This record gives sequence, C-alpha cells and structure tokens, in this order.
Amino acid sequence: MGNNFPLESNQKLLSLISALLEVENSSMETKLTKICVLLKKENKAYDWVGFYFSNHDTKTLHLKAFAGSPTDHNTIPFGKGICGQVAVSNKNFVVDDVSSQENYIACDINVKSEIVVPILVNQTNIGQIDIDSNTINAFNQKDVLLLEQVNNLVGNYILSNNISINIT
Ligand code: SME
Repeated sequence: MGNNFPLESNQKLLSLISALLEVENSSMETKLTKICVLLKKENKAYDWVGFYFSNHDTKTLHLKAFAGSPTDHNTIPFGKGICGQVAVSNKNFVVDDVSSQENYIACDINVKSEIVVPILVNQTNIGQIDIDSNTINAFNQKDVLLLEQVNNLVGNYILSNNISINIT
C-alpha cells in the first residue's frame, strides 16, 4: 500500500501546492483547505486530510483546515491521541492499524490507519498535517517524504510572509 504517487508526480503536486500558497487575496485557511482538497483528490487512500495548529499557551491543537467529513475533534489537548502525541514529540507518527493504539482519538469508525507529520519552523512545532485512511497500513516512507515536503512549503510560506494564524 502507501503513496500511489511516483516521485516525479510528487514534484508536480508540490509545484501545485506552491502555486496555491502564492494565490493573492486568499486567506491562509483557504490556501490550507485547497491543499487538503488537492492531497485527498490525488491519493485514493487519503480519506481525510487536515491541518491542526498548536497553541503553546493553552497546550491545545486547533483544526484550521480540512477535506473529508467534519470532525467533532476541532480542539485536541497536547498529549491526547496521535495528534496530541506529535504535538509533544515533534516527530512523525505513522499508525498502520489504529486499533493497536491505546492513545487514539476516533473521529470516524471507518478509519484504519493514520499519519501525522509536524510543521517545524525554526525547530518549533507550529502544527501538523493529519491524514486518515479507511485502508489498513495505507502509509509508508514515501508518504512521510511527501508530507514533510508539503509541510516545508507551508512552514516556509508562513515564516517568509510573517503569517500569524488565529489559533483559537
Ligand atoms: N485520530 C486523531 C484525531 C484527529 S482525527 O483523525 C480527525 C488522533 O488520534 O489524534
């Protein structure tokens, strides 16, 4: 299983994402939503794609953009679930089978596997991309690489344009 995109199509996808980030008169939330929609559309195993951002004062993650079914989990405390654990560890987390995880927040009973990759800006974990799949064992190192590259583009855009995301 894993990422269906060959590496050259990753380059096309990353170029499209760069272009989406540069669209004028579009809010950061809109840009991120378009990135979620694009990633979900381009990979059949990506059933839900979202961006959470960290509030380091309240130690909570906040959902700012997504594609897929709405979730009740718009706010997640640091440490809780796969997302909350990545907010603390600052490390990628690939879950082949969500039923094997004790510290897991179920958003949708159909989800079988999940990947969370942090957005690191100047070594600070500002948020993360979270992808759920209804297929078991859906993610591999190619997905990790792609999502690290997506997050680099997002992080660099936020840094170089001095974007502040309203994290509430
Ligand atoms: N499953 C995640 C919660 C977020 S939903 O997948 C949208 C977790 O355990 O952190």
